[in-house]
Amino acid sequence: MSTRFSDIRRVTTHQLQAMKNAGEKISMLTAYDYSMAKIIDAAGIDIILVGDSASNVMAGNETTLPITLDHMIYHATSVVNAVERALIVVDIPFGSYQGNSQEALRSSIRIMKESGAHSVKMEGGIEIRESIDRVLSAGVPVMGHLGLTPQSIYKFGTYTVRAKDEVEANKLLDDAMALEESGCFALVIEKVPAALTKKVSEQLNIPIIGIGAGSYADGQVLVMHDMLGINKEFNPRFLRRYADLHSIITGAVEEYISDIKSESFPNKKESY
Ligand code: KIV
Repeated sequence: MSTRFSDIRRVTTHQLQAMKNAGEKISMLTAYDYSMAKIIDAAGIDIILVGDSASNVMAGNETTLPITLDHMIYHATSVVNAVERALIVVDIPFGSYQGNSQEALRSSIRIMKESGAHSVKMEGGIEIRESIDRVLSAGVPVMGHLGLTPQSIYKFGTYTVRAKDEVEANKLLDDAMALEESGCFALVIEKVPAALTKKVSEQLNIPIIGIGAGSYADGQVLVMHDMLGINKEFNPRFLRRYADLHSIITGAVEEYISDIKSESFPNKKESY
């Protein structure tokens, strides 16, 4: 498939829909800071997700639960300052929207106003529909997130594949249809069987972005630290590593330390 949309100057939700309609796959990656977002954007990524996975990869927490709305706004602002082309989606963190649609609206308005991002993402289906509807009614584009939803990890108990049985698969399909009906512009589905992704992608008009959800999704997302090999401990089957930055960074830092110890850095040319 040719990259017919690569000359887009600014990716919008409408262009993502056009990509799905034209059969062009959508690329999405997380970013949390200015420098990395600038590189990823210039490389031509379609969507940058300021994910609450910042809680794991930036802050070293075991789950995404501890990250706050203020933290997310800080990360989102850094990304917005860097990005010229990609659509920027920001996760609303745990405890800032569930069960209270007014709070969902307040949180999303803070994200949009204070960071300048273009849209928000919320985890969950029919049970958070009131919150999604309220945020959408304020004109804020919403991306849904179904399947393995990390903010509910203590309910699931493990990070294993979701929706393998018929009951959970049917619930996911119902949720996906409800979110499309509400007006979500796209959905992330995480760690579900590829056959279910195929069904969801075929039955829904909006783009489905998969992570660990097989090749039938309309696009793919990965956590930047995982795909660049910065983070060595996380090795799920769905992850493809495109670089080994852990080794590259370790080698560079070791060389730097060695040059300082041997007094070869700085040399005359590097001095005033
Ligand atoms: O927070 C995140 O990085 C995410 C992706 C895993 C989709 O939600």
